[in-house]
Amino acid sequence: MNGLVPRTVAMLLGMALIAAGAGVMLGAHWGWGLFCSGVLALLVYHLRHLAMLGRWVSGPSTETVPESSGIWDDVFSKLYRRQRGEIRQRRRFARLLARSQQAGRALPYGVTILDAERQIVWCNDSAEAHFSISMEGDVGQAVTNLVRQPEFAAYINRGDYAEPLELTTARKEELILSIQMVPYVESHHLLLSRDVTQAHKLGIVRRDFVANVSHELRTPLTVLIGFLETVRDLKLDATRSRDYLNLMAEQGRRMQRIIEDLLTLSALESAPQPPGGERIDMAALLAQVRNEAEALSAGRHTISFEAEAGVDLAGNAGEIASAFSNLANNAVRYTPAGGSIRIQWRAVGEGAEFSVADNGIGIDAEHLPRLTERFYRVDRSRSRETGGTGLGLAIAKHALARHQATLAIASEPGKGSRFSVRFPKSRVRAAQPHSVAVDITSAGATFAQDLTPIHQYKT
Ligand SMILES: Nc1ncnc2c1ncn2[C@@H]1O[C@H](COP(=O)(O)OP(=O)(O)OP(=O)(O)O)[C@@H](O)[C@H]1O
Ligand SMILES: [Mg+2]
Repeated sequence: MNGLVPRTVAMLLGMALIAAGAGVMLGAHWGWGLFCSGVLALLVYHLRHLAMLGRWVSGPSTETVPESSGIWDDVFSKLYRRQRGEIRQRRRFARLLARSQQAGRALPYGVTILDAERQIVWCNDSAEAHFSISMEGDVGQAVTNLVRQPEFAAYINRGDYAEPLELTTARKEELILSIQMVPYVESHHLLLSRDVTQAHKLGIVRRDFVANVSHELRTPLTVLIGFLETVRDLKLDATRSRDYLNLMAEQGRRMQRIIEDLLTLSALESAPQPPGGERIDMAALLAQVRNEAEALSAGRHTISFEAEAGVDLAGNAGEIASAFSNLANNAVRYTPAGGSIRIQWRAVGEGAEFSVADNGIGIDAEHLPRLTERFYRVDRSRSRETGGTGLGLAIAKHALARHQATLAIASEPGKGSRFSVRFPKSRVRAAQPHSVAVDITSAGATFAQDLTPIHQYKT
């Protein structure tokens, strides 16, 4: 028989039977005496266990069930099993709660829970960063007291949240947020915030880019049309006509160069990263860079060239050659005749460095951060005279970033410039044994060694 009551009744019946037997054999006194003692013992046993149960229920920790014996064993072991199940369930819920709180905190979007009075109930890490608030100190505060911008307060109090609000925060670094209120439980709201600074900047860059491309193409096109009309409307002799046609061809070539450079840039942006497996023969590549620079200089500069043997790169040879050539050609174009240029390739630490130094016109510090922007030229007319599109460094930066290289420049007006490209260990390979060391140094070149400031481009 299972259960406390039936087993107690069974025990009482057993005791009554034994007591009745004793009464018949030893007399009624003995029988009643025995029965009363049995009932008393049973009562004491039950009272002891009830007291244990009472203490356990009202005790501080209900995790461990008290030791029991006899017919109470069953009750206590059922309690124990139920208790274990509840503890397991509670722990699972606690884990789930902690995990969803962690997920909420780690979201890249800002989430702030506001009550009906627009007071902060909870917020995650991103919201803390977006609004400069803190979970510890600002819970219970009205959000409009903490973000004190009229347009924000107007949006929060408006009640119509169909459209998000774009808010330029009053913080130093000009953070632009997209903010939206979403109804949540019991007249609470979720205040969602998203950092759209980059997207905003990108929009401006795109608009500027379209304006720049149109402007850059319109200039040669206007000149071209002007010449065409002159040739059409005026009776020109054969020599003049040829001169005009040559000038027109030059403008046409300029437009072609711009378009080719733009296509190169867009191809670089959309192409996958160059694989690390393809070894570039640096001796050949550097010889090509040097030949191009010497041809462009046509003997007007002293060009020194030092290349450390045994250092090769892994990546795309075309992209590296185009980046290096642009740096070397820039040095030639922006260094007056009689100046010196030094091109170097060497191992540095565990990586490698390519650098081009010149003692040419140099660049004013204010221009340094913008040099790698598309179409950015310090002196537009001078660059145009030398055939520049202002896209060379933008292409170089992209190509180098794809090889995890960093570009740095040190320059001072009147003293010269030094452009250096650092490649990480992961891109450097020991050269093939048969490759020939190229090491030609021409004497007499002087360089300003202490060029400042140095600008390191983010790649
Ligand atoms: N070595 C240098 N000395 C002085 N100024 C330089 C030097 N290299 C680059 N610059 C400046 O940086 C600008 C941008 O260079 P970039 O190579 O992007 O364009 P570019 O040489 O004008 O045209 P492109 O390279 O597209 O033919 C140049 O117009 C020039 O003003
Ligand atoms: Mg250039």
